[in-house]
Amino acid sequence: MKMTLVVAFATVLAVAAGSAIAGDAAAGKAKFGICAGCHGPTGAGNEALKYPKLAGRDAAFVGAQLRAFKSGARDNATMKAMAAGLTETDMDNLAAYIATLR
Ligand code: HEC
Repeated sequence: MKMTLVVAFATVLAVAAGSAIAGDAAAGKAKFGICAGCHGPTGAGNEALKYPKLAGRDAAFVGAQLRAFKSGARDNATMKAMAAGLTETDMDNLAAYIATLR
């Protein structure tokens, strides 16, 4: 009985932790159009123009960078402007989509 409760609680925690970062990649793709203008449609980036490659980055990294740009913790005027209009859900969704780019 006690074990069942522990397992049930652990499952709830795991689901809650997962949903905190698990965005909707399809919704993220729909939002990626403007990003593609600089980072490229496949997230390959543009070295000459100093637009970093996003392909290969995981969702946690991308989500954290977008939040840091939005808050100003990571100082970049261009990306701050990009992140300014994104909701928490948008950032999670974009992160989930970018994580699928290779
Ligand atoms: C006008 C060009 C431009 C657009 C549009 C743009 N970015 Fe960026 N992005 C940049 C630049 C420049 C940097 C590098 C910032 C720095 O040096 O800190 C960057 C950095 C990033 C990074 C950090 C990458 C790393 O390796 O640290 C992420 C993540 C990112 N952009 C995501 C996005 C997303 C998502 C969008 C669309 C909502 C977007 N960008 C739109 C120019 C752009």
